[in-house]
Amino acid sequence: MTKIVIDIESRTLGEVSKIMKHEKILVIDFGGQYNQLIARRVRENHVFAEIQSHTFSVEKIKEMNPKGIIFTGGPNSVYGESALEYNQEIFELGIPILGICYGAQLMAHALGGKVETAPTSEYGKTLIKTEASSAMMNNLQRETVMWMSHTDYIAQVPKGFVITAHTDVCPVAAMECVEKKFYATQFHPEVDHSVEGDKILTYFVKEVCGCAGDWEMKSLAVETIAQIKEKVGDGKALCALSGGVDSSVAAVLMSKAVGKQLTCVFVDHGLLRKDEGDEVEKIFGREGHYDLNFIRVNAQQRFYDALKGVTEPEKKRKIIGELFIRVFEEEAQKIGAVDFLVQGTIYPDVIESGLGKSAVIKSHHNVGGLPDCVDFKEIIEPLRDLFKDEVRELGLELGIPENLVFRQPFPGPGLAVRIVGEVTEEKVKIVQNADAIYREEIAIAGLDRKIGQYFAGLTNMRSVGVMGDFRTYDYAVALRAVMTNDFMTAEAANIPWEVLDKVTRRIVNEVDHVNRVFYDCTGKPPGTIEFE
Ligand code: XMP
Repeated sequence: MTKIVIDIESRTLGEVSKIMKHEKILVIDFGGQYNQLIARRVRENHVFAEIQSHTFSVEKIKEMNPKGIIFTGGPNSVYGESALEYNQEIFELGIPILGICYGAQLMAHALGGKVETAPTSEYGKTLIKTEASSAMMNNLQRETVMWMSHTDYIAQVPKGFVITAHTDVCPVAAMECVEKKFYATQFHPEVDHSVEGDKILTYFVKEVCGCAGDWEMKSLAVETIAQIKEKVGDGKALCALSGGVDSSVAAVLMSKAVGKQLTCVFVDHGLLRKDEGDEVEKIFGREGHYDLNFIRVNAQQRFYDALKGVTEPEKKRKIIGELFIRVFEEEAQKIGAVDFLVQGTIYPDVIESGLGKSAVIKSHHNVGGLPDCVDFKEIIEPLRDLFKDEVRELGLELGIPENLVFRQPFPGPGLAVRIVGEVTEEKVKIVQNADAIYREEIAIAGLDRKIGQYFAGLTNMRSVGVMGDFRTYDYAVALRAVMTNDFMTAEAANIPWEVLDKVTRRIVNEVDHVNRVFYDCTGKPPGTIEFE
């Protein structure tokens, strides 16, 4: 079989550095939870965004020479003890600045305005009244809904600024000083709930900063490959390949960078979808599309033994995460002198594992579930800043076949987080068979590319039923299907009743030990996509 060759590899160094000299927007992190989302919105305008801490020095900013700077939100106050460090000189660089929420207050405070505790805090969707006299605001409706989340507010704007939007209780929802190219919004234009928020960011990036918008995913691929090459040098790397979209994209990216210095290890932990182990081997193994070192480790029994009697979701995740790493370490030792472990961690994994500033939702096994001590010199996570849909775009850019790129996401801990309670081999078989039927019927109905993620899980419930003339006391399968782009929020999919009906009939008839099927109507929040 012919192996897939990606043209990026054959670019000359001159071409690479030309691509790397693209326009940049610097996002300065003041501890807000939407920082990556801001960077992503900038990328949507085809401009590269780099996030740096608020301690990033002015010298470094000058070296980087960004076309614009965005100050993010954050939980602190700009006055008093919790105020974060920043350098006043940043306002003298002649670079346009957009301050968001905390960033807006910081701008006001630093330039001589007044920030105080607001008499009324605002949280959630809020009606904003905009001024037509502002070119930025004139892009929007005179009354528009934006997402607010603040307890302080700007009580007085600095000299040279004008108020460009307000709400019933917030006198300065936005302000600007056109001459200096300083703009600020108390609301969060980056979140989806801000109906016309994208227009604010586009106006800032394109009109205020004058970005042409010539950055594309290809640049990211080229840069990442160049960075990986430099980091790995002539060392060896091991990639944790699950066959899912993220780890496949990470593996191909790595393989482009370091070729046969990379070995992909696919651990069959016995918690995969039906026939998945063989399918992954078919794509990445010796007979597959790619010219890479591939090892399949059949560790099913080790995982089942480790999970025996364990019911607590976080404990299950940690056990699987740790065992995964141990298996990799063993393989690494067999190969010898492996310095780098590569993982397909993406941004929502990082944030939900609590490694950002927000609360721990779940320990995604390729991040928070890692044991404290890992026997590799370094972990490389080339997709750590990207959202799922961006990873897919990158995958297409790398020439990965569409059917692999648009595969449904599958969690690292696999069916263990779709089986509520203790995992047993018998339950795994039930879920695999029910899920295979569900996926088959969704595809027949032509819904497979329309639904963000769908799968069957097993509840911990057994109930009484009747089959033929006999009483049954069996498990209930739960079907899940959600509409989502970023996998951070989701809505239950509206699947036609005929499809659900057919799936239900087939599951109870064809899968042993199942006598009931439920459809999960919950969104995220308040649910999560997986059951555990
Ligand atoms: P939740 O259940 O947290 O899922 O709403 C969000 C997305 O992440 C996937 N997921 C994981 N992916 N390791 C992964 O690589 C994990 O431990 C993990 N847990 C959840 C999930 O399938 C969904 O797409």
